[in-house]
Amino acid sequence: MPAEPTNIPRHVAVIMDGNGRWARARNKPRHAGHRAGVASVRATVETAAQRGVELLTLFAFSSENWSRPEEEVSSLMGLFVEALRREVNELHRNNVRLRFIGDRAQLNRGLVKKIEAGEEKTRRNTGLLLNVAVAYGGRWDIVSAAKELAGQVARGELTTAEIDEAKLAAALQLAGLPDPDLLIRTGGEQRISNFLLWNLAYAELWFTDVLWPEFDARQFDNALLFYAQKQRRYGHTSEQVEAAGC
Ligand code: FPP
Repeated sequence: MPAEPTNIPRHVAVIMDGNGRWARARNKPRHAGHRAGVASVRATVETAAQRGVELLTLFAFSSENWSRPEEEVSSLMGLFVEALRREVNELHRNNVRLRFIGDRAQLNRGLVKKIEAGEEKTRRNTGLLLNVAVAYGGRWDIVSAAKELAGQVARGELTTAEIDEAKLAAALQLAGLPDPDLLIRTGGEQRISNFLLWNLAYAELWFTDVLWPEFDARQFDNALLFYAQKQRRYGHTSEQVEAAGC
């Protein structure tokens, strides 16, 4: 058991990569990798809550994932519906609040209904906030926010001069929530892949070669230890940060 880190990130974001390679290494179809990935999602939600993380945001399906083979896309959509059917009661029992971010207009009606029911059921929970990104892209998020602000200007509710970072952030999918402090990416690649482009501006980035279906509490603790050793400067000097005692 690693030493207990003292500063736990409030918000952890995760790019869950490597399901396909995990399956291929076992001569299984890609779908089997995604299925195994659901078990890692369950374990990660549990560990995050136990360690005192307040928000967990998972990248489950990107805007770019629509271009995967149709069979894989439809099996992933089926898996989301099944996971919602199976897991929402358990999440609710554990006081988890579930929310989805992404372009719901792209999703089929059955999935949207399940999403809405899961969000409604867990709406008043006060424990971990779990955001699941489906049909999500960071650029889409920023473009949607820009359109929203343009609409407000056109309706005379806002002037162009009044647009600032806070106004744009308030029109993003994660409006009102603190930015992720730590980004975890599994599967060996070291990139952001159009995830929360705006919100990740100051996140600490932790990459591991471990494939998502093999990601467990020990890996999560390694990421927390990495984070605990970082000094976050937000553009200031080390001396300024030390003088401020944070
Ligand atoms: C990336 O691995 C993973 C995905 C595109 C899907 C993630 C989905 C899950 C973990 C399942 C369910 C999630 C929830 C929230 C219930 P990849 O297919 O790109 O792997 P590869 O890079 O090895 O091919």
